[in-house]
Amino acid sequence: MGQNNNKNIKTNKLMKVIIPPIKSQGIKTKLVPWIKDLVEIANQTGTWIEPFLGTGVVAFNAGYKKAILNDTNPHIINFYKNVQSKSITAALMKQYLEKEGQILSEAENNGYEHYLKIRSRFNSGEFSPYDFIFLSRAGFNGMMRFGSKGNWNIPFCKKPERFAPAYITKIINQVTHVSQVIQSEPDWTFHNTSFANIIPLATENDIIYCDPPYYGRHVDYYNGWTEQDEELLFQLLSETKAKFILSTWHHNDWRENEMIKKYWNKFNIITQDHFYHNGGNIENRRTVVEALVCNFDTGTISQHNHRKKEKPKTEQLTLDWMG
Ligand SMILES: C[S@@+](CC[C@H](N)C(=O)[O-])C[C@H]1O[C@@H](n2cnc3c(N)ncnc32)[C@H](O)[C@@H]1O
Repeated sequence: MGQNNNKNIKTNKLMKVIIPPIKSQGIKTKLVPWIKDLVEIANQTGTWIEPFLGTGVVAFNAGYKKAILNDTNPHIINFYKNVQSKSITAALMKQYLEKEGQILSEAENNGYEHYLKIRSRFNSGEFSPYDFIFLSRAGFNGMMRFGSKGNWNIPFCKKPERFAPAYITKIINQVTHVSQVIQSEPDWTFHNTSFANIIPLATENDIIYCDPPYYGRHVDYYNGWTEQDEELLFQLLSETKAKFILSTWHHNDWRENEMIKKYWNKFNIITQDHFYHNGGNIENRRTVVEALVCNFDTGTISQHNHRKKEKPKTEQLTLDWMG
């Protein structure tokens, strides 16, 4: 795993990132190379532990043969468990998407009727992992959001030809790539519980990567996040014998993340600007400074270190990311 030569650490900026078939607004694809640099500095030889898996993009690119992966969202876990057991394969996904994509392209109201049919089928309790991918890929703006009863409540992307052959190929390639990375049980295990039951499983040689819902941001059925949650996370990560990396936000154009001052400042913190584009022009560009908090020395990537108790060891640099 990686290399622990802090002076000459190789950057992963140009790495080829494995993209998962599930889409979500909170996906960390753009931050994967930066996270991976830190993972290599941590140089842990044990298990990759990810209590807030989301789409899985970070786990799939972390390079570990053993992993404990968890999310409170049962649909994510169910989908990847099916990929792991080979109940879902690229060939079956292709068959499904070709069939449903064809019906979508011919459905009333520019496809909307068929999207609604799949959405009600899913929300009625069938919870098919295939329908989950359909909704994820045909929903508005690649968003994932569940209403107060745990129902998928994203509207249609309004593209009746959504599942054109090239798009299906892209999705099934993503299924193939993740199925090649996911190891069989017991090397990789998937769980559907609270982070509080997962973090204590970590031992000294393991690495925990946490990407919880951001405090004070949007919440949905699977993404409620209170200050008590943040405090419990802080307590569990403070007690762990493993190394950990936590993703959070540091500040944006208007305010600071108060949880940094309250909890995370006792650890090392590195930050990076991240631009979100809401439309084409420069006025619509928002900057969020993303942070990685960790309980080990960040070596040569300690630029932008916001830890209050020590002076930064190196000159501060800003790395700009185009999102
Ligand atoms: C910000 S997302 C993770 C995104 C992920 N890193 C990615 O790149 O796709 C946070 C995830 O935590 C899950 N979650 C929310 N509360 C949780 C809890 N108490 N325990 C475990 N998972 C939780 C949500 O379902 C969501 O998938």
